Amino acid sequence: MNIKSSAVKDKANKLGRRQFLKNAGAAALAFTIVEPQLVRGSAANSKIKLGLVGCGGRGTWLADLFQKHGGYQFTAAADYFQDKVDAFGEQYKIDKNQRFTGLNGYKKLLAGKAVDAIIIQTPPYFHPEQAAAGVEAGVHVYLAKPIAVDVPGCMSIQQSAQKAGAQKLCFLVDFQTRTHPFYREAVKRVQYGDIGKIVSGEAAYLCDATWSQYYPFFENGNISPENRLRAWGLSRELSGDVITEQNIHVLDVATWILDEHPLQATGFSYRYRPVGTCHDTNSVIYTFPGDVLLTFHSKQFGKAYDDLLCRMYGANGVIDTHYFGSVSISGDKPFKGGDVGNLYTDGAVSNIADFHANITSGKYANTTVAPSVRSNLTTIMGRLAADKGAPVSWEEVSNSQATLTPDLTGLVL
Ligand SMILES: NC(=O)c1ccc[n+]([C@@H]2O[C@H](COP(=O)([O-])OP(=O)(O)OC[C@H]3O[C@@H](n4cnc5c(N)ncnc54)[C@H](O)[C@@H]3O)[C@@H](O)[C@H]2O)c1
Repeated sequence: MNIKSSAVKDKANKLGRRQFLKNAGAAALAFTIVEPQLVRGSAANSKIKLGLVGCGGRGTWLADLFQKHGGYQFTAAADYFQDKVDAFGEQYKIDKNQRFTGLNGYKKLLAGKAVDAIIIQTPPYFHPEQAAAGVEAGVHVYLAKPIAVDVPGCMSIQQSAQKAGAQKLCFLVDFQTRTHPFYREAVKRVQYGDIGKIVSGEAAYLCDATWSQYYPFFENGNISPENRLRAWGLSRELSGDVITEQNIHVLDVATWILDEHPLQATGFSYRYRPVGTCHDTNSVIYTFPGDVLLTFHSKQFGKAYDDLLCRMYGANGVIDTHYFGSVSISGDKPFKGGDVGNLYTDGAVSNIADFHANITSGKYANTTVAPSVRSNLTTIMGRLAADKGAPVSWEEVSNSQATLTPDLTGLVL
Protein backbone atom coordinates (compact mmCIF):
# COMPACT_ATOMS: atom_id res chain seq x y z
CA MET A 1 0.00 0.00 0.00
CA ASN A 2 1.11 3.57 -0.57
CA ILE A 3 -0.56 6.94 -0.59
CA LYS A 4 -1.64 6.61 -4.21
CA SER A 5 -3.19 3.17 -3.86
CA SER A 6 -4.82 3.97 -0.54
CA ALA A 7 -7.40 6.08 -2.36
CA VAL A 8 -8.92 2.89 -3.66
CA LYS A 9 -8.62 1.15 -0.35
CA ASP A 10 -10.54 3.92 1.40
CA LYS A 11 -10.89 2.09 4.71
CA ALA A 12 -13.93 3.50 6.47
CA ASN A 13 -13.67 3.95 10.21
CA LYS A 14 -15.48 5.69 12.99
CA LEU A 15 -13.09 8.59 13.33
CA GLY A 16 -13.13 9.10 9.57
CA ARG A 17 -16.90 9.32 9.40
CA ARG A 18 -17.12 11.56 12.45
CA GLN A 19 -14.50 13.90 11.05
CA PHE A 20 -16.19 13.95 7.66
CA LEU A 21 -19.60 14.82 9.14
CA LYS A 22 -18.05 17.51 11.32
CA ASN A 23 -16.32 19.09 8.34
CA ALA A 24 -19.35 18.71 6.12
CA GLY A 25 -21.51 20.42 8.76
CA ALA A 26 -19.10 23.32 9.10
CA ALA A 27 -18.99 23.67 5.34
CA ALA A 28 -22.76 23.68 4.98
CA LEU A 29 -22.94 26.51 7.50
CA ALA A 30 -20.33 28.50 5.61
CA PHE A 31 -22.25 27.93 2.42
CA THR A 32 -25.35 29.67 3.76
CA ILE A 33 -23.49 32.80 4.84
CA VAL A 34 -21.35 33.37 1.78
CA GLU A 35 -20.82 37.04 1.00
CA PRO A 36 -21.17 37.84 -2.70
CA GLN A 37 -18.10 40.03 -3.04
CA LEU A 38 -15.92 37.29 -1.59
CA VAL A 39 -16.60 34.75 -4.28
CA ARG A 40 -15.44 35.96 -7.65
CA GLY A 41 -18.32 35.98 -10.08
CA SER A 42 -20.77 34.29 -7.71
CA ALA A 43 -23.95 35.58 -6.16
CA ALA A 44 -24.66 35.16 -2.45
CA ASN A 45 -25.47 31.57 -1.47
CA SER A 46 -24.39 30.29 -4.84
CA LYS A 47 -21.85 27.54 -5.10
CA ILE A 48 -18.20 28.14 -5.80
CA LYS A 49 -17.63 27.34 -9.45
CA LEU A 50 -14.73 24.98 -9.99
CA GLY A 51 -12.53 23.99 -12.86
CA LEU A 52 -10.65 20.72 -12.52
CA VAL A 53 -7.25 20.74 -14.23
CA GLY A 54 -6.11 17.13 -14.50
CA CYS A 55 -8.98 14.64 -14.58
CA GLY A 56 -6.92 11.59 -13.59
CA GLY A 57 -6.89 9.40 -10.49
CA ARG A 58 -6.54 11.97 -7.74
CA GLY A 59 -8.51 14.68 -9.56
CA THR A 60 -11.62 12.57 -10.14
CA TRP A 61 -11.39 11.06 -6.66
CA LEU A 62 -11.16 14.52 -5.07
CA ALA A 63 -14.00 15.81 -7.24
CA ASP A 64 -16.38 13.44 -5.49
CA LEU A 65 -15.36 14.94 -2.13
CA PHE A 66 -15.83 18.49 -3.47
CA GLN A 67 -19.28 17.46 -4.68
CA LYS A 68 -20.22 15.87 -1.35
CA HIS A 69 -19.18 19.05 0.45
CA GLY A 70 -22.17 20.83 -1.07
CA GLY A 71 -20.66 24.28 -1.54
CA TYR A 72 -19.06 23.67 -4.92
CA GLN A 73 -20.07 23.04 -8.50
CA PHE A 74 -17.82 21.90 -11.35
CA THR A 75 -18.39 24.14 -14.36
CA ALA A 76 -15.25 23.47 -16.43
CA ALA A 77 -12.48 20.92 -16.80
CA ALA A 78 -9.19 20.43 -18.59
CA ASP A 79 -7.07 17.38 -19.17
CA TYR A 80 -4.43 16.66 -21.77
CA PHE A 81 -6.55 13.76 -23.04
CA GLN A 82 -10.01 14.17 -24.58
CA ASP A 83 -11.34 10.87 -23.19
CA LYS A 84 -10.38 11.87 -19.64
CA VAL A 85 -12.00 15.29 -19.75
CA ASP A 86 -15.09 13.87 -21.44
CA ALA A 87 -15.54 11.11 -18.88
CA PHE A 88 -15.29 13.71 -16.13
CA GLY A 89 -17.45 16.21 -18.03
CA GLU A 90 -20.24 13.67 -18.51
CA GLN A 91 -20.21 12.71 -14.85
CA TYR A 92 -20.36 16.31 -13.63
CA LYS A 93 -22.62 17.64 -16.44
CA ILE A 94 -20.07 20.14 -17.70
CA ASP A 95 -20.93 21.87 -20.98
CA LYS A 96 -18.96 20.49 -23.90
CA ASN A 97 -17.66 24.00 -24.64
CA GLN A 98 -16.18 24.12 -21.11
CA ARG A 99 -14.05 21.00 -21.60
CA PHE A 100 -10.48 21.64 -22.73
CA THR A 101 -7.60 19.47 -23.87
CA GLY A 102 -3.91 19.67 -24.70
CA LEU A 103 -1.01 21.13 -22.72
CA ASN A 104 -2.64 24.57 -22.90
CA GLY A 105 -6.13 23.39 -22.03
CA TYR A 106 -5.87 25.11 -18.64
CA LYS A 107 -5.28 28.47 -20.36
CA LYS A 108 -8.45 28.03 -22.40
CA LEU A 109 -10.32 27.02 -19.28
CA LEU A 110 -9.22 30.21 -17.52
CA ALA A 111 -9.98 32.37 -20.55
CA GLY A 112 -13.52 30.94 -20.53
CA LYS A 113 -14.15 32.76 -17.22
CA ALA A 114 -16.56 30.07 -16.04
CA VAL A 115 -14.82 29.35 -12.74
CA ASP A 116 -14.10 30.95 -9.36
CA ALA A 117 -11.37 28.45 -8.51
CA ILE A 118 -9.21 25.79 -10.10
CA ILE A 119 -8.22 22.45 -8.64
CA ILE A 120 -4.80 21.51 -10.03
CA GLN A 121 -4.22 17.74 -10.11
CA THR A 122 -1.70 17.32 -12.90
CA PRO A 123 1.87 15.95 -12.86
CA PRO A 124 4.00 18.18 -10.60
CA TYR A 125 6.13 19.64 -13.41
CA PHE A 126 3.06 21.60 -14.60
CA HIS A 127 2.00 22.95 -11.19
CA PRO A 128 3.94 26.26 -11.18
CA GLU A 129 2.78 27.43 -14.61
CA GLN A 130 -0.82 26.38 -14.01
CA ALA A 131 -0.98 27.95 -10.54
CA ALA A 132 0.58 31.18 -11.82
CA ALA A 133 -1.97 31.36 -14.65
CA GLY A 134 -4.80 30.74 -12.19
CA VAL A 135 -3.75 33.60 -9.92
CA GLU A 136 -3.13 35.82 -12.95
CA ALA A 137 -6.70 35.10 -14.07
CA GLY A 138 -7.99 36.05 -10.60
CA VAL A 139 -9.20 32.64 -9.41
CA HIS A 140 -8.56 30.73 -6.18
CA VAL A 141 -6.15 27.80 -6.39
CA TYR A 142 -6.32 24.36 -4.74
CA LEU A 143 -3.04 22.60 -5.50
CA ALA A 144 -1.83 19.01 -5.16
CA LYS A 145 1.49 18.30 -3.50
CA PRO A 146 4.31 18.43 -4.45
CA ILE A 147 4.09 22.05 -5.48
CA ALA A 148 6.98 21.80 -7.97
CA VAL A 149 9.84 19.61 -9.22
CA ASP A 150 12.73 22.10 -8.88
CA VAL A 151 13.80 25.17 -6.91
CA PRO A 152 12.67 27.78 -9.49
CA GLY A 153 9.30 26.01 -9.51
CA CYS A 154 9.04 26.27 -5.70
CA MET A 155 9.91 29.99 -5.87
CA SER A 156 7.27 30.46 -8.55
CA ILE A 157 4.62 28.88 -6.32
CA GLN A 158 5.72 31.05 -3.41
CA GLN A 159 5.35 34.16 -5.57
CA SER A 160 1.98 33.03 -6.95
CA ALA A 161 0.70 32.47 -3.43
CA GLN A 162 1.93 35.89 -2.29
CA LYS A 163 0.26 37.46 -5.27
CA ALA A 164 -2.90 35.50 -4.51
CA GLY A 165 -2.99 36.86 -0.97
CA ALA A 166 -2.51 40.41 -2.21
CA GLN A 167 -5.36 39.91 -4.68
CA LYS A 168 -7.66 38.43 -2.00
CA LEU A 169 -7.47 34.96 -3.43
CA CYS A 170 -7.12 31.67 -1.58
CA PHE A 171 -4.27 29.32 -2.36
CA LEU A 172 -4.27 25.96 -0.60
CA VAL A 173 -1.76 23.11 -0.86
CA ASP A 174 -3.39 19.75 -0.17
CA PHE A 175 -1.28 17.95 2.46
CA GLN A 176 -3.25 15.61 4.70
CA THR A 177 -1.16 15.18 7.86
CA ARG A 178 -1.20 18.86 8.78
CA THR A 179 -5.01 18.74 9.06
CA HIS A 180 -5.26 15.87 11.53
CA PRO A 181 -6.09 16.64 15.18
CA PHE A 182 -3.66 14.02 16.57
CA TYR A 183 -0.79 15.20 14.38
CA ARG A 184 -1.56 18.83 15.23
CA GLU A 185 -1.81 18.24 18.96
CA ALA A 186 1.34 16.11 19.10
CA VAL A 187 3.38 18.60 17.06
CA LYS A 188 2.11 21.47 19.21
CA ARG A 189 3.20 19.67 22.39
CA VAL A 190 6.64 18.88 21.00
CA GLN A 191 7.12 22.47 19.91
CA TYR A 192 6.05 23.50 23.43
CA GLY A 193 8.90 21.36 24.80
CA ASP A 194 7.16 18.18 25.93
CA ILE A 195 9.94 15.87 24.71
CA GLY A 196 12.72 18.25 25.62
CA LYS A 197 15.62 19.08 23.34
CA ILE A 198 15.33 17.03 20.14
CA VAL A 199 18.61 15.36 19.32
CA SER A 200 17.80 13.15 16.38
CA GLY A 201 14.99 11.77 14.30
CA GLU A 202 14.04 9.52 11.44
CA ALA A 203 11.63 9.74 8.56
CA ALA A 204 10.86 6.90 6.18
CA TYR A 205 8.54 6.26 3.25
CA LEU A 206 8.43 2.56 2.54
CA CYS A 207 6.06 1.26 -0.12
CA ASP A 208 5.69 -1.16 -2.97
CA ALA A 209 6.40 -0.67 -6.66
CA THR A 210 3.91 2.05 -7.54
CA TRP A 211 3.76 2.69 -11.31
CA SER A 212 4.82 -0.84 -12.29
CA GLN A 213 1.70 -1.13 -14.47
CA TYR A 214 3.38 1.34 -16.84
CA TYR A 215 6.57 -0.70 -17.37
CA PRO A 216 5.22 -2.25 -20.63
CA PHE A 217 5.13 1.26 -22.19
CA PHE A 218 8.92 1.21 -22.13
CA GLU A 219 9.36 -2.10 -23.96
CA ASN A 220 11.45 -1.80 -27.13
CA GLY A 221 12.69 1.59 -25.87
CA ASN A 222 10.17 3.29 -28.12
CA ILE A 223 7.68 5.04 -25.87
CA SER A 224 5.14 7.41 -27.46
CA PRO A 225 4.88 11.02 -26.25
CA GLU A 226 1.38 10.32 -24.87
CA ASN A 227 2.51 7.23 -22.99
CA ARG A 228 5.44 9.18 -21.57
CA LEU A 229 2.94 11.64 -20.15
CA ARG A 230 0.68 8.85 -18.85
CA ALA A 231 3.66 7.27 -17.08
CA TRP A 232 4.73 10.58 -15.52
CA GLY A 233 5.47 8.96 -12.14
CA LEU A 234 8.41 7.13 -13.73
CA SER A 235 9.90 10.38 -15.00
CA ARG A 236 12.08 12.45 -12.71
CA GLU A 237 11.46 15.49 -14.93
CA LEU A 238 7.67 15.29 -14.73
CA SER A 239 7.34 14.11 -11.13
CA GLY A 240 10.38 15.56 -9.35
CA ASP A 241 11.44 11.96 -8.55
CA VAL A 242 10.21 9.69 -5.78
CA ILE A 243 11.81 11.73 -2.99
CA THR A 244 9.84 14.80 -4.04
CA GLU A 245 6.64 13.33 -5.44
CA GLN A 246 5.95 10.71 -2.77
CA ASN A 247 8.42 10.97 0.09
CA ILE A 248 7.51 14.60 0.66
CA HIS A 249 4.72 13.46 2.99
CA VAL A 250 7.18 12.34 5.69
CA LEU A 251 9.74 15.10 5.12
CA ASP A 252 6.87 17.57 5.45
CA VAL A 253 6.07 16.12 8.88
CA ALA A 254 9.75 16.27 9.90
CA THR A 255 10.17 19.92 8.93
CA TRP A 256 6.83 20.71 10.55
CA ILE A 257 7.80 19.13 13.89
CA LEU A 258 11.22 20.81 13.90
CA ASP A 259 9.76 24.00 12.39
CA GLU A 260 13.05 24.55 10.59
CA HIS A 261 14.59 23.91 7.23
CA PRO A 262 17.68 21.69 7.13
CA LEU A 263 21.11 23.30 6.99
CA GLN A 264 22.84 20.50 5.14
CA ALA A 265 22.12 17.16 3.46
CA THR A 266 24.28 14.21 2.46
CA GLY A 267 22.75 11.32 0.59
CA PHE A 268 22.65 8.45 -1.84
CA SER A 269 19.97 7.23 -4.21
CA TYR A 270 19.59 4.36 -6.64
CA ARG A 271 17.14 3.01 -9.18
CA TYR A 272 16.06 -0.57 -8.63
CA ARG A 273 13.16 -0.58 -11.10
CA PRO A 274 14.00 -1.41 -14.71
CA VAL A 275 12.60 1.67 -16.44
CA GLY A 276 12.27 5.44 -16.18
CA THR A 277 14.50 8.14 -14.72
CA CYS A 278 13.41 8.06 -11.05
CA HIS A 279 15.43 6.76 -8.14
CA ASP A 280 13.26 4.47 -6.02
CA THR A 281 15.73 4.00 -3.17
CA ASN A 282 16.96 6.98 -1.15
CA SER A 283 19.01 7.54 2.00
CA VAL A 284 19.72 11.07 3.16
CA ILE A 285 21.07 12.48 6.42
CA TYR A 286 19.89 16.01 7.09
CA THR A 287 21.43 18.33 9.68
CA PHE A 288 19.03 20.80 11.26
CA PRO A 289 19.79 23.79 13.51
CA GLY A 290 20.82 22.76 17.02
CA ASP A 291 22.81 19.79 15.64
CA VAL A 292 19.63 17.77 15.13
CA LEU A 293 20.29 14.83 12.82
CA LEU A 294 17.44 13.46 10.71
CA THR A 295 17.95 10.12 9.00
CA PHE A 296 15.62 9.70 6.02
CA HIS A 297 15.21 6.63 3.87
CA SER A 298 12.70 5.46 1.30
CA LYS A 299 12.02 2.56 -1.01
CA GLN A 300 9.41 2.19 -3.72
CA PHE A 301 9.95 -1.41 -4.76
CA GLY A 302 9.27 -4.93 -3.57
CA LYS A 303 6.43 -6.15 -1.42
CA ALA A 304 5.33 -6.77 2.14
CA TYR A 305 6.27 -3.65 4.04
CA ASP A 306 4.58 -0.24 3.95
CA ASP A 307 4.91 2.62 6.39
CA LEU A 308 5.09 6.41 6.25
CA LEU A 309 6.71 7.35 9.50
CA CYS A 310 8.37 10.25 11.21
CA ARG A 311 9.83 9.89 14.68
CA MET A 312 11.84 12.39 16.72
CA TYR A 313 13.92 11.57 19.78
CA GLY A 314 14.13 14.20 22.49
CA ALA A 315 15.91 14.32 25.84
CA ASN A 316 12.61 13.63 27.64
CA GLY A 317 10.51 11.69 25.17
CA VAL A 318 9.70 10.57 21.64
CA ILE A 319 7.08 11.64 19.11
CA ASP A 320 6.06 8.80 16.81
CA THR A 321 3.84 9.40 13.76
CA HIS A 322 2.51 7.08 11.04
CA TYR A 323 0.32 8.24 8.12
CA PHE A 324 -1.40 4.82 8.04
CA GLY A 325 -1.29 4.22 11.78
CA SER A 326 -1.07 6.15 14.98
CA VAL A 327 0.38 9.33 16.42
CA SER A 328 1.67 9.44 19.99
CA ILE A 329 4.22 10.88 22.39
CA SER A 330 5.95 8.73 24.97
CA GLY A 331 8.23 9.85 27.79
CA ASP A 332 7.89 12.28 30.69
CA LYS A 333 4.81 13.98 29.24
CA PRO A 334 3.04 11.33 27.20
CA PHE A 335 0.26 11.98 24.70
CA LYS A 336 -1.82 8.93 23.91
CA GLY A 337 -3.03 10.27 20.55
CA GLY A 338 -4.29 7.24 18.67
CA ASP A 339 -5.09 5.81 15.27
CA VAL A 340 -5.35 8.54 12.64
CA GLY A 341 -7.99 6.54 10.77
CA ASN A 342 -8.47 7.21 7.10
CA LEU A 343 -6.16 10.20 6.88
CA TYR A 344 -5.97 9.99 3.10
CA THR A 345 -9.66 10.84 2.81
CA ASP A 346 -10.20 12.85 5.97
CA GLY A 347 -7.25 15.13 5.22
CA ALA A 348 -8.66 15.98 1.81
CA VAL A 349 -12.15 16.49 3.25
CA SER A 350 -10.71 18.87 5.80
CA ASN A 351 -8.76 20.82 3.16
CA ILE A 352 -11.83 21.05 0.93
CA ALA A 353 -13.85 22.43 3.85
CA ASP A 354 -11.06 24.90 4.74
CA PHE A 355 -10.78 26.07 1.14
CA HIS A 356 -14.49 26.83 1.09
CA ALA A 357 -14.46 28.50 4.50
CA ASN A 358 -11.44 30.62 3.59
CA ILE A 359 -13.00 31.79 0.33
CA THR A 360 -16.38 32.54 1.80
CA SER A 361 -15.07 34.28 4.91
CA GLY A 362 -12.31 36.17 3.12
CA LYS A 363 -9.28 34.55 4.79
CA TYR A 364 -6.32 34.98 2.48
CA ALA A 365 -3.39 34.17 4.78
CA ASN A 366 -2.83 31.00 2.72
CA THR A 367 -1.00 29.32 5.57
CA THR A 368 -0.47 25.97 3.85
CA VAL A 369 1.97 27.45 1.34
CA ALA A 370 5.10 28.34 3.37
CA PRO A 371 5.47 24.90 5.00
CA SER A 372 4.87 23.30 1.60
CA VAL A 373 7.65 25.36 0.02
CA ARG A 374 9.97 24.41 2.89
CA SER A 375 9.31 20.68 2.69
CA ASN A 376 9.42 20.70 -1.12
CA LEU A 377 12.84 22.37 -1.03
CA THR A 378 13.94 19.83 1.61
CA THR A 379 13.11 16.96 -0.77
CA ILE A 380 14.97 18.67 -3.62
CA MET A 381 17.93 19.18 -1.29
CA GLY A 382 18.08 15.42 -0.67
CA ARG A 383 17.87 14.73 -4.41
CA LEU A 384 20.62 17.23 -5.18
CA ALA A 385 22.87 15.82 -2.44
CA ALA A 386 22.50 12.28 -3.78
CA ASP A 387 23.17 13.46 -7.34
CA LYS A 388 26.24 15.39 -6.25
CA GLY A 389 27.59 12.65 -4.02
CA ALA A 390 28.66 15.31 -1.53
CA PRO A 391 27.02 17.52 1.10
CA VAL A 392 24.67 20.25 -0.11
CA SER A 393 23.88 23.33 1.97
CA TRP A 394 20.55 25.13 2.29
CA GLU A 395 22.12 28.22 0.65
CA GLU A 396 23.11 26.09 -2.34
CA VAL A 397 19.55 24.82 -2.64
CA SER A 398 17.97 28.23 -2.18
CA ASN A 399 20.14 29.66 -4.95
CA SER A 400 19.77 26.73 -7.32
CA GLN A 401 18.61 27.74 -10.78
CA ALA A 402 18.73 24.13 -12.03
CA THR A 403 15.52 23.08 -13.72
CA LEU A 404 14.07 19.72 -14.61
CA THR A 405 12.72 19.86 -18.16
CA PRO A 406 10.73 16.94 -19.51
CA ASP A 407 10.67 16.00 -23.17
CA LEU A 408 7.23 17.17 -24.31
CA THR A 409 8.02 16.72 -27.99
CA GLY A 410 5.08 15.35 -29.92
CA LEU A 411 2.43 16.50 -27.44
CA VAL A 412 -0.19 18.97 -28.64
CA LEU A 413 -0.52 22.39 -27.10
N1 LIG B 1 -1.96 12.02 -1.02
C1 LIG B 1 -1.88 12.98 -1.92
O1 LIG B 1 -1.86 14.15 -1.57
C2 LIG B 1 -1.79 12.62 -3.38
C3 LIG B 1 -2.11 11.32 -3.81
C4 LIG B 1 -2.03 11.05 -5.18
C5 LIG B 1 -1.64 12.03 -6.08
N2 LIG B 1 -1.32 13.27 -5.61
C6 LIG B 1 -0.87 14.31 -6.54
O2 LIG B 1 -1.92 14.61 -7.44
C7 LIG B 1 -1.40 14.96 -8.71
C8 LIG B 1 -2.05 14.06 -9.78
O3 LIG B 1 -1.74 12.72 -9.50
P1 LIG B 1 -2.67 11.51 -10.05
O4 LIG B 1 -2.34 10.35 -9.21
O5 LIG B 1 -4.09 11.95 -10.15
O6 LIG B 1 -2.07 11.30 -11.52
P2 LIG B 1 -2.89 10.80 -12.81
O7 LIG B 1 -1.88 10.44 -13.83
O8 LIG B 1 -3.87 9.76 -12.40
O9 LIG B 1 -3.68 12.09 -13.25
C9 LIG B 1 -3.04 13.21 -13.84
C10 LIG B 1 -3.95 13.73 -14.94
O10 LIG B 1 -3.38 14.92 -15.46
C11 LIG B 1 -3.48 14.88 -16.87
N3 LIG B 1 -2.45 15.76 -17.41
C12 LIG B 1 -1.14 15.52 -17.59
N4 LIG B 1 -0.51 16.62 -18.01
C13 LIG B 1 -1.46 17.58 -18.11
C14 LIG B 1 -1.42 18.94 -18.50
N5 LIG B 1 -0.28 19.54 -18.85
N6 LIG B 1 -2.57 19.63 -18.50
C15 LIG B 1 -3.74 19.02 -18.15
N7 LIG B 1 -3.82 17.75 -17.79
C16 LIG B 1 -2.68 17.04 -17.75
C17 LIG B 1 -3.32 13.42 -17.24
O11 LIG B 1 -3.85 13.12 -18.51
C18 LIG B 1 -4.08 12.74 -16.11
O12 LIG B 1 -5.44 12.57 -16.43
C19 LIG B 1 0.12 14.81 -8.59
O13 LIG B 1 0.71 16.04 -8.28
C20 LIG B 1 0.30 13.88 -7.41
O14 LIG B 1 1.52 14.03 -6.74
C21 LIG B 1 -1.41 13.59 -4.30
